[in-house]
Amino acid sequence: MIDVLSVASEAYPLIKTGGLADVTGALPAALAAHDVTVRTLLPGYPAVMGALEDARALREFGDYFGGPATLLAGRAGGLDVIVLDAPHLYARAGNPYLGPDRKDWPDNWRRFAALSYAAYEIGGGAAGEFQPQILHCHDWQAGLVPAYVRFNSPTPAKTILTVHNIAFQGLFGFEIFNELRLDYRAAQESAVEYYGLINYLKAGLQTADQLTTVSPTYALEIKTQAYGMGLEGLLSARADALVGITNGIDDREWDPQTDRALHTTYNHNSIETRQANRRALELRFNIDDTPGPLFSVVSRLTTQKGLDMLVGLVDDLVAAGGKLIVLGSGDAEIENGFAGAVMRHPGKVGFNRGYDEPLSHLIQGGADVMVVPSRFEPCGLTQLYGLRYGCVPLVSRVGGLADTVIDANEAAIEAGVATGIVFAPAEPYALRDALLRAVQLHARPKVWRKMQRRGMKSDVSWDASAEKYAKLYRKLLGVKEDDQQDD
Ligand code: ADP
Ligand code: GLC
Repeated sequence: MIDVLSVASEAYPLIKTGGLADVTGALPAALAAHDVTVRTLLPGYPAVMGALEDARALREFGDYFGGPATLLAGRAGGLDVIVLDAPHLYARAGNPYLGPDRKDWPDNWRRFAALSYAAYEIGGGAAGEFQPQILHCHDWQAGLVPAYVRFNSPTPAKTILTVHNIAFQGLFGFEIFNELRLDYRAAQESAVEYYGLINYLKAGLQTADQLTTVSPTYALEIKTQAYGMGLEGLLSARADALVGITNGIDDREWDPQTDRALHTTYNHNSIETRQANRRALELRFNIDDTPGPLFSVVSRLTTQKGLDMLVGLVDDLVAAGGKLIVLGSGDAEIENGFAGAVMRHPGKVGFNRGYDEPLSHLIQGGADVMVVPSRFEPCGLTQLYGLRYGCVPLVSRVGGLADTVIDANEAAIEAGVATGIVFAPAEPYALRDALLRAVQLHARPKVWRKMQRRGMKSDVSWDASAEKYAKLYRKLLGVKEDDQQDD
């Protein structure tokens, strides 16, 4: 048995702003099948404190990055957790990263240094009987953990850093250095320094024992200037330590046969009953019941996701006979673009500017196409939910999208392997072609149905990927594969 501490700023169902939470929420159960025990270290946000059960204090601190704090162990949202209860840092309503003004909390550097320091201390024995062998750190919010391990007193625990999105690096002014409780050598050897600033992700990338990212293609891309966001040199230098492991989905939460958010449940043999879900969606979004394909988006509305391109193509899509529903919020320009499209195309385009977990399930279970035209996409989960639910993914050929969807070109249709529509480059003209190609494919019901069925049967579960993480942990700890049964 291997003991892992997963260090994350969000985890479904406790607190979620995106796919990171889906991953950190689902991976512990998937790893249990591979003799790995995971505890998740989370900040004591109100949502986490409110869900915490059987809590017991492991350790109390009088002054922890500016105020008193307690490490609590317990259960929350189906996870074994250790919570850093530090009200001066986390007892704030709403989004974990943003204040009510939609801007980053000004003390995010302190909030996530504290989280990382707590992980480091647990690695050094602060949680008593729970002594992790691996500190598995997610994204920049946990990026300082490996730096503490490397430059402060070493811990017995090994470190892994998983990059879910290299666009977010945690950049702060260098003046915070003295408050990070990081040994001065970390500054001298420029482990945390980045063009005169402090970069939390870079600190982790430089010092972790093992690096992973969330798909093989993204692992290649981030070593290039086009996708590396300035860290491509460092990642190329550490290429031997970097692997891509594709995310899976939590198939207890995401199963069209049991999903309670659906109007009608179904499986790959009863795909036609999705029609009832589609009708429920049309009513919800004020869309007419004409037979053309219903395209959908469930996403943060940002340029990463390429949705500004889709805004410019709505008129063409509707002219070709398509309809579109959008669930999401984000950049004002994109929001306004979709709101304008609703006005221009009543009955054909619908927009819900919000965040709605059950509605996201109904969309997967009722819409015909899930559009994910990202400029870059480390893995992406909505296309995986689309595959599982028979909502055919239409994706750009980047990152995890390239690794998980097989394009319906004629050869793939003929061979019976197509699962979606894939386009490149991530430019409006290519997205336009893909949208029109989807309309044409939808008009070939046999081909379409086969593609849906093929997607629904493809393995998007965590099984294979959890095994890869488990193997990586064992490799890091020097456990031979043959010894695994005897752990
Ligand atoms: P990212 O993490 O980059 O936002 P992913 O595709 O990995 O992209 O994960 C996004 C997750 O957030 C998915 O679970 C998706 O269903 C969910 N999601 C995004 N926007 C919304 C929304 N407006 N309402 C409900 N769920 C959403
Ligand atoms: C990030 C990425 C997304 C990925 C998710 C979970 O939010 O943008 O592509 O699926 O992390 O790994």
